[in-house]
This record gives sequence, structure tokens and C-alpha cells, in this order.
Amino acid sequence: MSSSLIPNDNHMYNSVDYWDKRYESVGQRADSDNESYDWLVDYSNIKHIINQLIPKTASLLMLGCGNSLLSEQMFADGYCNIVNIDYSSPVIKQMSNHCDNCRQMQWSVMDCRELTFATETFDVVIEKATIDALLTEETDHWNISDTNRQQISRVLQEVYRVLKTDGQFISISFYGSHFRYPLYKSCFESNTDRLAMKAIHEVSASFHYYCYQLIKCVNKTIDFEPQVYEPPKVITTCLSGNCQSNQLIDDKCLINANPVQDESHYLLNINL
Ligand SMILES: C[S@@+](CC[C@H](N)C(=O)[O-])C[C@H]1O[C@@H](n2cnc3c(N)ncnc32)[C@H](O)[C@@H]1O
Repeated sequence: MSSSLIPNDNHMYNSVDYWDKRYESVGQRADSDNESYDWLVDYSNIKHIINQLIPKTASLLMLGCGNSLLSEQMFADGYCNIVNIDYSSPVIKQMSNHCDNCRQMQWSVMDCRELTFATETFDVVIEKATIDALLTEETDHWNISDTNRQQISRVLQEVYRVLKTDGQFISISFYGSHFRYPLYKSCFESNTDRLAMKAIHEVSASFHYYCYQLIKCVNKTIDFEPQVYEPPKVITTCLSGNCQSNQLIDDKCLINANPVQDESHYLLNINL
């Protein structure tokens, strides 16, 4: 990826202006026909999971398709019923031209927080790194802000609405289940019907990514729920004062801790 496409600030990934400019600049390049970018993983990394979870006949909605090759490669693999949306109009224009040879695929400018499809339209909704992009302002994923939680909740409520009963939401993310599961779960707290997270697949590429399968359950519960991890406890070494080494940090301990006197003292207190 060209460095000129990398924003100065991560917050920009949550802005349609950023994405418009990025895709416009890609489109202006002489070699733009070949320009594509797959976030996190490409189809070769997840094909085995997709093939296992999704029948070829399924009707699919791709949220925040960007200029990824995922839909095109899935199409070539036999998934012929794919609707792609992105809120950036330049990329939808580019992709619909680029995929001229797979005419059954549809491309629409649409915000995933406000889908215009009828209720119960799709068997499967997929997103790869789109929800991650909505969360780039977060500095503490253990404590997602109310604003961002509401945003994700809007996406999930819309996904839930457009899915048929027992339909699947496949969410591919940078974030592990200790972050993603409580977030998705909290978006449905007031609902008896919900998207139950059924399975998690770890995807090994150059790094570990996560593929979540959520099922639209109407008036039924799903027995499998992944383990929820707690945030790590903050452990510190108290250098001296009234507390033991490697004690859980608290205000009192911090106040009582004296500054490091010398390096050997500091090293002695590290308990590996
Ligand atoms: C990180 S990129 C991922 C692109 C592609 N899914 C992939 O895996 O390579 C995020 C994409 O989501 C789109 N996007 C972000 N927020 C969106 C929203 N609220 N509605 C629709 N698309 C959105 C952006 O325009 C961008 O194309």
C-alpha cells in the first residue's frame, strides 16, 4: 500500500471523507485497474472457513466492500449471489466497472448503519475490517465508548433485520474474542432475539485474525458461547514502601512507592 494512503491519525478511518479521497487517489493512477487492497486477510486465507460455513447458493451481503478482491474471488469460487455495499461512492463506481464480467454482482452506495434492504433479505452478511474501521477512535477496547457502542449496535441491529432466520453474520476482525464477544453481546442486551455468537475461527496469515460466526436466533437460545476473558489486572512492582513486590497496583501503593534508588534495587524487585 502506498504510504500516501495512510492517514496521519487513526481516527480518519472512521470518516467517509478519508475513504472517498483514498479511493479517488487510487482511481486516478494509471494502473488503477489492478489496484486492490485486502485488509487483514485475503480469500485464500479464509476460503476453507467460508466454504465450510456458507453454501454456494446463499444470498450474501458484503458490508464495506472497499476495493477488496473478496467478493470477486468468492464469485469465481461459485458464490454468485453477492450484493456489495460501501458508503464511499468512488469505490463503488470503481468496483462495479472493475467487476463488469460478473454482472450478477450488485454494488450500492450505502451506510451499513442504515441499510435500505427489506427485512429478511439475506442468508449471510459478511464484513471484513469494516467494524474495525468504525472503532479506530477507541484507545481502550476493554471500555468501548457509548458513542461507538451505539454505532456498532446500529450495524448489528441492521444486520439482524436484513438476515433471514438462522442466517449468519460472518465478521472478520483484527480483534480477539475477549474484545469482540462482549461488544457484540452488549449490542443485544435488551433483545430476546439476537445474533448468537456460535463459533470463532482463528485465521493465521502474517498475523492472527479472527472470524466470528453469529447466527440470527429467533426465540431460541444457542448453547455455545465462547469464554469471556477479563481485562488483564495491572501488576506493578512496588519498589519499596508499604507494599509487597508484584502487588496489584492501587492508589495507596502508588503513593507509598518510593522512586528507584539504583538499578540493582530495581532489578531485584522484578519477579519474572
Ligand atoms: C478497512 S476497509 C475494509 C475494506 C474491505 N472490506 C477489506 O476487507 O479489504 C473499511 C471499508 O469500510 C467502508 N466503511 C466504513 N464505514 C462504513 C459504513 N458506515 N458503511 C459502509 N461502509 C463503510 C470504508 O469505506 C472502507 O471501504
